Amino acid sequence: MSVRVTADLKGVPETALWTLYHRAAEAARPDTVLPDPRAVQLVAEVDFPFGERLGGARPWLAQAVALRALGFDGVVRDFLAAHPDGTVIALGEGLETQFWRVDNGRAQWVTVDLAEPLALRSRILPHGTRQRLIACDVRERRWMAGIDAARGVLVTAQGLLMYLQPAQVTELIAACAGAFPGGSMVFDTVSRRFSARTRTGAKGPGGHRLPPMPWGMDAVERDRLRTAHPAISDVADVPLPAGRGFLGHLAPRAAAVPLLRGDRPLITRLRFGTAAAAGPAGRP
Ligand SMILES: C[S@@+](CC[C@H](N)C(=O)[O-])C[C@H]1O[C@@H](n2cnc3c(N)ncnc32)[C@H](O)[C@@H]1O
Repeated sequence: MSVRVTADLKGVPETALWTLYHRAAEAARPDTVLPDPRAVQLVAEVDFPFGERLGGARPWLAQAVALRALGFDGVVRDFLAAHPDGTVIALGEGLETQFWRVDNGRAQWVTVDLAEPLALRSRILPHGTRQRLIACDVRERRWMAGIDAARGVLVTAQGLLMYLQPAQVTELIAACAGAFPGGSMVFDTVSRRFSARTRTGAKGPGGHRLPPMPWGMDAVERDRLRTAHPAISDVADVPLPAGRGFLGHLAPRAAAVPLLRGDRPLITRLRFGTAAAAGPAGRP
């Protein structure tokens, strides 16, 4: 008999349960865009009032959250195809089950999150010898110690950077660029307008209050990310994959839709040049 684990997360850490819930709702559909039985199983095993807290899973939102995860999966798969023994560092990983969706049996996987969500993760997910859990605030640099960067590094930050202050985001990107020459980083952002709405108490689709998201970025600003550190050699858009129905059709084409062009969530991939280009600003 399995014992349900009580999830008692508050504030920003609680959002790890929100994104899990939406991915699981999408994954449970027979026509899902994101097969993920482990996420479905987790939601059944965790004792948390998902429906009450979030007002139920809206199918469009569940698919949108799943398409974001699928976009990240694509970047991780490409990285592992080029660096089969490489290290994926998942910042703010929460209860994401991406490892089990993309693992190639050889990669090293490092999960970094705050102590409470990480403790919940370690109780409900089985971590193997290639997985390491680090309880650390990403605004500190402690998590960088002991990372094996010899066979390539990809840093992911899915659903994380919007919760940091703009200067903290720049510092984190610069630190990664300096610490992982030849590596890359992928993260998603909300628009400036959406960020502003959350700072004035905006509610989510289920009527729950969204935590403030101090950092927002519009597509026209993306290229400025290069100024965070001289080792940043490439800044690229990661289009959402196509999905199901109207939303799924629109997702990869959002940049061409006038109403969405400037005000939409984005996924961005950065590449870091080699050691010669990296300056002291990025040293942890
Ligand atoms: C919206 S959830 C995203 C979780 C997961 N990446 C996903 O996409 O489902 C935000 C996550 O970031 C973590 N987080 C927020 N601020 C953080 C910080 N300063 N340092 C480390 N983790 C942080 C939270 O604990 C939470 O797990």
